[in-house]
Amino acid sequence: MKSNIVLIGFMGSGKSITGKLLAYRLGYSFVDTDTAIEQEYKTKIKDMFAKEGEAVFRQRETATIQKLAQKSHQVISTGGGVATKETDMQELRKNGIVIALTAMPHTILKRTGNDKRPLLAKKSNEERLKTIIELMAKRAPFYKKADLIIKTDDTTPLQNVEIIMKYLK
Ligand code: S3P
Repeated sequence: MKSNIVLIGFMGSGKSITGKLLAYRLGYSFVDTDTAIEQEYKTKIKDMFAKEGEAVFRQRETATIQKLAQKSHQVISTGGGVATKETDMQELRKNGIVIALTAMPHTILKRTGNDKRPLLAKKSNEERLKTIIELMAKRAPFYKKADLIIKTDDTTPLQNVEIIMKYLK
């Protein structure tokens, strides 16, 4: 029986909040890959992108995932780009059920207003929506490979948890 729950999906799809609630419900530990990277390298993701570049961030993300995949009874909330990395996903799948949270571009636009995410930061709403649509088109095929897909436009994080709990029964 696989013992980790891995949440994948676009930025702003609700992975972190849903993951925290789910972990509490299951009595599992909660890990957010971005937070784990920030703690290990003592740098905020947006500073890492600015100072060292996206490629360095992606290597660190892979290294973090390799470590997390060795542990069990965790809800792992992944950064939006993880699902596109085949080897990272293979590692996570060995001991993890993969659940994708999805949302329409306009929903993501509303949820990603702060400048926390380097790929969407410092843009007008119009530019941000364009980037969201372009990135989502590339990533949607990867998110579709999940064991369970939940559309979160009209659900609350607690409702997402209920859907996941039903699926796990
Ligand atoms: C990214 C998503 C972010 C973070 C980084 C890159 C992406 O995580 O990993 O800014 O490529 O989609 P969230 O999905 O938690 O926002």
